[in-house]
Amino acid sequence: MSLRFVLDPELTPELREQIVALWVDVSNAGGAVGFVPPVTAERVRATAEPMFVDVSDGPDRLLVGYAGERLVAVLIFSDNRFDLKAHWCVLKRVMVHPDTQGRGYGAALMREAERVGRELGWEALHVTLRDGLGLDRFYRGLGYREIGRLPRALRVGPGDDRDEILMWLDLTDRAAA
Ligand SMILES: CC(C)(COP(=O)(O)OP(=O)(O)OC[C@H]1O[C@@H](n2cnc3c(N)ncnc32)[C@H](O)[C@@H]1OP(=O)(O)O)[C@@H](O)C(=O)NCCC(=O)NCCS
Repeated sequence: MSLRFVLDPELTPELREQIVALWVDVSNAGGAVGFVPPVTAERVRATAEPMFVDVSDGPDRLLVGYAGERLVAVLIFSDNRFDLKAHWCVLKRVMVHPDTQGRGYGAALMREAERVGRELGWEALHVTLRDGLGLDRFYRGLGYREIGRLPRALRVGPGDDRDEILMWLDLTDRAAA
């Protein structure tokens, strides 16, 4: 089944709860989207609510993907809030429901983000990720390259520090040169 994508959907109370529920399930399955399991809906909601405000009343954009009627994929286009960086965008909260991972939905979500990015005139997309989960392979397969690391920047548990990997997708003609 291919995903149906919606950019900037109306953030109804129902959609907000669906996003929180997705985020909880992804986090509790070990996904690297800001939390270490176990996490409750209450904790995720506390992080999600300001994010929703930045979308509904601020410069960020929300992309959601549906398999049939079910919300299964989400990402945020996070505005840099800095004129000198207005020509590129940061992707955050990239996630696919654990029940539906491994079916190509993550790749489809990122391809749609790339399409939107080009349409909006951005020259690059940037994403940061937690080392140790193989996620760099996912992004590399989509054309992103590693541009640096913050060493041991993420303390996911006692004695378990992970690098934060910075990845970049050039959307200009320079990328082909
Ligand atoms: C990362 C994520 C979005 C990928 O979505 P997905 O639907 O499972 O990915 P796809 O099925 O489209 O996989 C595309 C390719 O990436 C690879 N891939 C996907 N997740 C991977 C991972 N965690 N590690 C290594 N490779 C991965 C797949 O094997 C596949 O490779 P192939 O093209 O050679 O077959 C999803 O696993 C997820 O939501 N993870 C939890 C949240 C998270 O950690 N997000 C990243 C925030 S930076």
